Amino acid sequence: RLNVTETFHQITFPGHLHTQDSLRYAMDFQFQDTDTLIVTYPKSGTTWMQQVLTLLFSRGDPTLSHSIPNWARAPWLEQYYCPDVLKASLGPRIITTHLPYSLLAPALQGSKAKVIYVARNPKDVAVSYYHFHKMANFLPQAGCFGEFLDKFLDGTLHYGSWFDHVKGWTSQGRDKLNFFYITYEEMWQDMRGSIERISTFMQCPLLAEELNNVQRHCSFSCMKENAMVNYTQIPDEIMDHSKGSFMRKGKIGDWKTIFTEEQNCMFDQVFEAEMQSSKLNFIWE
Ligand code: PPS
Repeated sequence: RLNVTETFHQITFPGHLHTQDSLRYAMDFQFQDTDTLIVTYPKSGTTWMQQVLTLLFSRGDPTLSHSIPNWARAPWLEQYYCPDVLKASLGPRIITTHLPYSLLAPALQGSKAKVIYVARNPKDVAVSYYHFHKMANFLPQAGCFGEFLDKFLDGTLHYGSWFDHVKGWTSQGRDKLNFFYITYEEMWQDMRGSIERISTFMQCPLLAEELNNVQRHCSFSCMKENAMVNYTQIPDEIMDHSKGSFMRKGKIGDWKTIFTEEQNCMFDQVFEAEMQSSKLNFIWE
């Protein structure tokens, strides 16, 4: 099913991981109050937050985060293997999703599950997603960056529109859910403070030494070397490692190396129109 597209509620998904059944399973999911749900648009800091939460739960002990792949520690709710992973899970569950709020709102209604939304400045999301398309054989051809950017702004890439995703979760979801919002940029600029805020939300206070360990194992350099989060174990036919690396740059403002002035103007116009009703601010560089 490599490079097959699954369409569900007008949104396309990679067909090697998603089926109509798996997507329906996500929509009908019975959340438990002890669940923690990581919500992201792709390329916004998903893997990073999976690592932070795993390490928080283990109080900085890296055993799990160095022996079990991220997708088996914090499975994507909408991907076909999720029920099996959750069946085997002991303790409180960490679940990940890229789904928009509109699809999960009914399942989350009235739930006390913790929801952690990670957003990233969308110019860097587009650039990271573009490079990922070049190495991921399960995604459609990226074309040139200009073509890719048009699709990003139109919301026709896999997982749908960035704008709908961010607006849906932060404006409609936020008030109704046990919700925590953080950005990739905040984590990047102040990792320690971010871990402290997350640990407070999670009601999981850490000793200074434990915090040091969480911080160490969540650093980009450490994660880039960790085969349980850097996707190097994925076979070349699925991710072509000669064409890039999942842990690519891990920086803020990389969009400047690829956006033309014209693309930047167009982006700003669309952003302004789409985000008029939103109070979110982003750090762009
Ligand atoms: S995915 O495919 O949606 O799960 O991707 P996701 O994990 O959301 O995003 C991948 C980008 O996050 C960067 N990354 C990090 N940056 C800084 N510090 C840490 N620890 C870290 N871990 C992952 C990763 O490098 C991708 O960004 P780019 O800009 O492509 O480097």
